[in-house]
Amino acid sequence: MSVRRLAEDTVQPATFAFNRENAAWAKATIQKYPKGREQSAVIPLLMRAQEQDGWVTKAAIESVADMLGMPYIRVLEVATFYTQFQLKPVGSRAHVQVCGTTPCMLRGAEDLIKVCKSKIAAEPFTLNESGTLSWEEVECQGACVNAPMVMIFKDTFEDLTAERLEEIIDLFDAGKGADVEPGPQIDRIYSAPVGGLTTLQTPDEAETKKAPARASKGDGDKAVSVPPSNAAKPKTSAEVTNPTLKTPATAKKASARNARIEGETVDKSKPAKKPR
Ligand code: FES
Repeated sequence: MSVRRLAEDTVQPATFAFNRENAAWAKATIQKYPKGREQSAVIPLLMRAQEQDGWVTKAAIESVADMLGMPYIRVLEVATFYTQFQLKPVGSRAHVQVCGTTPCMLRGAEDLIKVCKSKIAAEPFTLNESGTLSWEEVECQGACVNAPMVMIFKDTFEDLTAERLEEIIDLFDAGKGADVEPGPQIDRIYSAPVGGLTTLQTPDEAETKKAPARASKGDGDKAVSVPPSNAAKPKTSAEVTNPTLKTPATAKKASARNARIEGETVDKSKPAKKPR
């Protein structure tokens, strides 16, 4: 895991404040947690700060710590631990996160990284000349079945080729990122097979014939009234399966209480008397 440090002081803003809408959201979010547990809101608040300013600044970390009554170091630990928090300024129009884990790598992630290097910057976490774009390589984003893919802000763009990623980066750079449809970039529905369905194309005739007719809506009460079957229950007379008995713990307590009522002293060091 790479070392994650805050950005240099030269790029850190002096102050941070949530805007009016986000401040109201933060207040409501903190109130979701019980009194004394407000610190649980640290991740959502840091994420909101990142969504507002594009990255998590030192001032934002301190401001969130003040809001939650936490030491600055505790919030710093959270911000530097989770790689979802950007600790340096990222592209104002797109920060391209290229998945480089095995399935995406096998399906062409290296070509996507080459595109990022040539169109954005040779090194990750580096802004392009106009400050609109940046990129990084990330671990699996959970869309392996549609590999290779990238994530930009909260959207994933899947089944990518180098050419399609170039087009997407150009559109985001031109401020038209909202026009790009997220999801598969080829003619497939979600993660359905490429080229159309290969199975489950027709109903299974044998199953259709055998299947009992489903109860109609009006039969609902009748179906509910069918008692549960005892067929799978073990046939045994063991004491532990007797539903009228209490749990062993309860039974012990009851036995001790009975002994006291009868004037006996319960000595735990001696074995219990055997019933006659
Ligand atoms: S390996 Fe790339 S999304 Fe899972």
